[in-house]
Amino acid sequence: MINLGPEDISMQSKVEHLLNLAFGQKRFLNPSHKFRNNSTPVRDLCFVAKKEKEVIGTIRFTSIIVGKEKSAVLLGPIAVSPAYQGQGIGSSLMELGISVVRNKCIALVIAIGDPSYLSRFGFQSANTYELTFPNLYESEKLMILKISNISIKNIYKGDISLNLGNS
Ligand SMILES: CC(C)(COP(=O)(O)OP(=O)(O)OC[C@H]1O[C@@H](n2cnc3c(N)ncnc32)[C@H](O)[C@@H]1OP(=O)(O)O)[C@@H](O)C(=O)NCCC(=O)NCCS
Repeated sequence: MINLGPEDISMQSKVEHLLNLAFGQKRFLNPSHKFRNNSTPVRDLCFVAKKEKEVIGTIRFTSIIVGKEKSAVLLGPIAVSPAYQGQGIGSSLMELGISVVRNKCIALVIAIGDPSYLSRFGFQSANTYELTFPNLYESEKLMILKISNISIKNIYKGDISLNLGNS
């Protein structure tokens, strides 16, 4: 039986192992990974999927500043162990994570990834905004999910940076 729940701090090494399995060593070259640079994710926005004691899925969010907006998080990493992919676990983790972000009234989520995957969860291209993400050269991978209803066209522009005081 597979359960979703909060990531306990004691699970960190299991999550690292899972990330190595799912992404391989290329994850260290990923702009999101470089950006996070060992910062701490928002503790109550870290979830895992477990099968008995094995951690088979992970989702985390990191607090960021988007232009002048401080109510924002970066999604990632999201990963499912290769042996369990294609069974809906990744989607369940995404839905859980995004619903908790909504409940916390965070204004927006940024993600770097495949548009065809992220659009399933309501993410849209951030190309229409003047946002810059460090070391990201494939700008089509910059995706945004607006949580609040305000028009963001003229508000969210500028650099995306870590919100170090907020984890
Ligand atoms: C992406 C990932 C988390 C999805 O987890 P999962 O449990 O396999 O996902 P689900 O079973 O809920 O959904 C699978 C669907 O997502 C699609 N999908 C998975 N990765 C995708 C990608 N990179 N681009 C587009 N679609 C993708 C699959 O084709 C499948 O489509 P289908 O439902 O039409 O058959 C998992 O494949 C993974 O860990 N990949 C390696 C790490 C990674 O790339 N993470 C970041 C992605 S932005």
